Amino acid sequence: MISGDSIRMEKLCYSIGGRKILEEFDFHLERGVNRTILGVSGAGKTTILKLLLGLLEPDSGKVFIDDLCITGLPESKFMQQRRRIAIVFQGGALFDSMTVGENVGYRLFEEGQLSQVEIEKVVMEKLSFVGVETALNLYPAELSGGMKKRVAIARALAADPDYIFFDEPTTGLDPIGVYNICNLMQRLQAEGKTTLMVTHDLATAFETSQRFTFLHKARMLFDGSEEEMRSSNILEVREFLKPTDSSLFT
Ligand SMILES: Nc1ncnc2c1ncn2[C@@H]1O[C@H](COP(=O)(O)OP(=O)(O)OP(=O)(O)O)[C@@H](O)[C@H]1O
Ligand SMILES: [Mg+2]
Repeated sequence: MISGDSIRMEKLCYSIGGRKILEEFDFHLERGVNRTILGVSGAGKTTILKLLLGLLEPDSGKVFIDDLCITGLPESKFMQQRRRIAIVFQGGALFDSMTVGENVGYRLFEEGQLSQVEIEKVVMEKLSFVGVETALNLYPAELSGGMKKRVAIARALAADPDYIFFDEPTTGLDPIGVYNICNLMQRLQAEGKTTLMVTHDLATAFETSQRFTFLHKARMLFDGSEEEMRSSNILEVREFLKPTDSSLFT
C-alpha cells in the first residue's frame, strides 16, 4: 500500500432528526483490501457510503480521501480525490429517460474531456466487461433487475475509478444474478480495484471480501476477518451469523 492511499473516517458522528445513526465511528479502507460493512436494514450502511463520498456532512468527526480531509470542504475542492471513487447505488439509480449507453457515458459527457467517439468506445468496453453490450440502446425500463445492476456497475466503471462502493448489489437477484455480481466484483479486484460493499447478504460478503465491519446500534461492534467473525463471542455478531452457520446452533 502506498502511504496515504486510503479512505477513512475518524470518530464520525451523524444523526437524523435527533436519532443517532453513527457514533464515534472509525473506519479505514486501504487500497487493495476489499471490505464489507454488514448490518441489519436501517443500521446506517447507505449513510456511511454517502458520508465517505462527501454527499452528507457529519455532525462531528472527519472523512479523509488519501490525506485530504474533505469534511467541510466544498466539492469543487476535492473533485480530483472524489473522481477516484465510484458508487453503485442501492437499486441502480439509472436515469430512466436515457438509454443504457447514455447512462454509462453520462459522466464522461458531463466532464467534456473525451470526444464522442472516445466515449462510445469506453461505453462499449464497460458494457462488454459486465456482459450486457447488447442492451446499448435499451431503456432501463426494458431491463431485468440483474441487467440493471450490471449497467449500474458499467456506469460506475466509466471514469476508471480506483475504489468502487457497492450498496446492496445482490438484493433482489436470483442465484444466477448473485453469482454474476460476485464474479464481476472478483474480476474488478483482480484488475486492481478496491471494493467496499455494504450489505446484509453474508454469502456475497464472504465470497468477495477479506475484511468485515459489523455495524450495530450506531457503533462498530466488530472489525476483522471471516475466521475472526465466525469465532467471535460477541452475541450480536453470533445472532447476525446464525442463519448461515449451522455450527452455531450446536
Ligand atoms: N433522509 C432521511 N430522513 C429521515 N430518516 C432517514 C433518512 N435517510 C435515512 N434515514 C434513516 O436513517 C437510518 C439509516 O438509514 P440507511 O439508509 O443508512 O440504512 P441502511 O443500513 O442502508 O438500510 P437498508 O439495509 O435498508 O438499505 C434508517 O433508520 C433510515 O430510516
Ligand atoms: Mg441502504
